[in-house]
Amino acid sequence: MQKATAPHSTKKLSVYFITSVAALGGLLFGYDTGVISGAQLFLVKTFSLNPQQQELAVSAVLIGAIIGAIVAGKVNDAFGRKRTLLLLAVIFTLGALLTAVSPNYTLFLIFRAIVGLGIGAAASVVPVYISEMAPFQMRGKLVTFNQLAITIGIAVSYWVDLAFAHAGMGWPPMFATAAIPGLLLFLGMLMSPETPRWYASRGRWVEARQVLERIEGADPEFEIAEIHTSLSVEQHQGRIRDLFTPGVRMALLVGVGLAVFQQFVGINTVIYYAPTIFQSAGVSSASSAILATSVVGVVNVLATIVALLLLDKAGRRVLLISGCIGMIIGLALLGAIFATGAGNAGLLTLLALMIYIISFAISMGPVFWLMSAEVFPTSVRGAGASVCSFSNWVANFIVSVTFLSLIGGIGTAHTFWLYAVIGVAALIFCWYLVPETKGKTLEQIEAYWNNGRRWIKPSTLSKARLKPTP
Ligand code: BGC
Repeated sequence: MQKATAPHSTKKLSVYFITSVAALGGLLFGYDTGVISGAQLFLVKTFSLNPQQQELAVSAVLIGAIIGAIVAGKVNDAFGRKRTLLLLAVIFTLGALLTAVSPNYTLFLIFRAIVGLGIGAAASVVPVYISEMAPFQMRGKLVTFNQLAITIGIAVSYWVDLAFAHAGMGWPPMFATAAIPGLLLFLGMLMSPETPRWYASRGRWVEARQVLERIEGADPEFEIAEIHTSLSVEQHQGRIRDLFTPGVRMALLVGVGLAVFQQFVGINTVIYYAPTIFQSAGVSSASSAILATSVVGVVNVLATIVALLLLDKAGRRVLLISGCIGMIIGLALLGAIFATGAGNAGLLTLLALMIYIISFAISMGPVFWLMSAEVFPTSVRGAGASVCSFSNWVANFIVSVTFLSLIGGIGTAHTFWLYAVIGVAALIFCWYLVPETKGKTLEQIEAYWNNGRRWIKPSTLSKARLKPTP
């Protein structure tokens, strides 16, 4: 190991600074998706929306996000991570301000879709930026910090909604507030470097080394050698069709399956529509409904912190399976509350939503994003993760755009019971198909798929050699 060229603490601090700045993109992802929950009660009044128009007001951001998820990869590779994040910061900031001054429903939808472009792109650009910047020993921890930032963004949006609802100021300032983290992201990114890996991919090795010396210090030589090796592998592979080769397609099935189930268990009916759910359970005032939602947001953050602490100890499967069971119970309970028209429905609804959100936050929430980055072989990791992310946004859109229509069509109780049944399917899927990747190296995971879904002991791994991806 080479000696650090500057005091260790300075280098660590700069990594945390850079991670926190980039994670503002995650915070904006959370804020800009969560803010609609409280705002829609006021939007419905301002623009006199029917349930279909309300669904579209919620989902416009997701249409933008689906497009953002597709184009992000190309822009990110062509212009670099830093410039892409600077561009996203401008989109977030302008989008927030424009949404706040929307003079009519159509323009509101267009501005929300523009914000959505930023969200969809940030969902993949931020983890890529952090992972390419992080010292390899800290990569897992720093990348999962992004999911925490998403939940913090959602919780903050609920509290901001509540404050403006109380102040009687309605929806415009709720959206405008996102301009603050947007501006901070812009200023922070001006001070942050481009990633060494992107420089290297453009043949700019001198700059790559300079950044490594500034942020990592401990062993730039080693990191440069690592980047060399991985880039030479990636130059020959990484195509979407490689994802359909024998072993890898099972990894794809697991990644896309988790992406779709993460949304089809109905998480965003709660994240985006919680105040509406509380109101239909009999909580009459808008601010009480938003207050109850704010509590849900904080519980989401706290449970995510618990998940981060447990993921590498208890393992992914234990959390996934117990989380699925918890979600099924929460959803069944919600259905029962609406079916029986129970007294005290407000409190009971809060309890059922707590069970549900805690269960999601320790399972599908963090585990999907983590697994989408770890189940694929190195050569197809980028392509695999982006297919997973795209599937996740499409599934999110389908659920969000059908939720209120389902309630109108089959009733609230049956809608939640439908999600509970999907929860059972998710449980079966996780039980039979999702491997336990805790404590496994990425090489072991790659070998697992290539060896008919059987684990190989680390000592025999080098002899069994991984079959190269065709
Ligand atoms: C999901 C989002 C969801 C959030 C809730 C994320 O992992 O991708 O759709 O709103 O978790 O915490």
